[in-house]
Amino acid sequence: MSAALDIRDFERVVFFTGAGMSAESGVPTYRGKGGIWKSYDYQNCACQEAFERDPEYVWEFHNYRRGLVSKCAPNLGHQLITRCQQQLPSVRVVTQNIDGLHQAAGSVDVLELHGSLWRVHCEACGWSEEDHAAPVLALRCPACGDAYKRPGIVWFGDPLNEAVIREVADALAACDLLVSIGTSAVVYPAAQMPLIAKRGGATLVEINPEDTPISHAYDHHLRTTATEGLAALCAGLDP
Ligand code: OAD
Repeated sequence: MSAALDIRDFERVVFFTGAGMSAESGVPTYRGKGGIWKSYDYQNCACQEAFERDPEYVWEFHNYRRGLVSKCAPNLGHQLITRCQQQLPSVRVVTQNIDGLHQAAGSVDVLELHGSLWRVHCEACGWSEEDHAAPVLALRCPACGDAYKRPGIVWFGDPLNEAVIREVADALAACDLLVSIGTSAVVYPAAQMPLIAKRGGATLVEINPEDTPISHAYDHHLRTTATEGLAALCAGLDP
């Protein structure tokens, strides 16, 4: 890593995070060793077709994930990002994660590209709520009483929320530092979003122990974990 790289030298910072951000909290990643998609087929548990075919199984999968994540706490990396938000003029957090750990660490205005494990809604009547139960036992909508509650997650094949995309694009276009952390950059459209920051002239930093398909677009590569990379980048912040 460049010795000169110090987060305090930038005015408008965007952190762009993926599953590797939460790996050190104990939340499994999706791909690689121990990845969720090695044990589960997303076509049976993380797409609209699966939900329409077998909502109880889809809920079993999401309750399993709720159970896992509810035992996990934010790690030092999440905490350092929150500290950046508290000490620097403009810091946005954009995440593909659904685990809510940025918010649990105190980060605010987190933009969740792939939704949240902790929100549920009803496609039939529009009812929605935040629900941190692990597991959710009452699976039917309490408002219309008929349809199954739907996890508030952007599944494979779903469009991303338009308003979230717009806000993410604006933050990326305006930033002067983009720090991507722990994403394999293989799921679109999220994978290519950091390139918006590049086109806007920002400095791009990738924190990931491994190369990704868009590593070439980054100016700096910290081939280490989220906590170690962030600790180095944020070393100059007040404790
Ligand atoms: P992946 O599981 O695809 O990739 C995790 C990345 O984190 C890999 O590049 C690892 O090298 C890296 N990594 C592992 N441990 C790390 C650590 N301690 N510190 C830093 N990096 C580490 O996860 P995502 O890229 O987030 O979408 O996956 C993108 C999307 O695919 C997810 O949001 C999810 C999934 O299917 C949906 O469910 C819609």
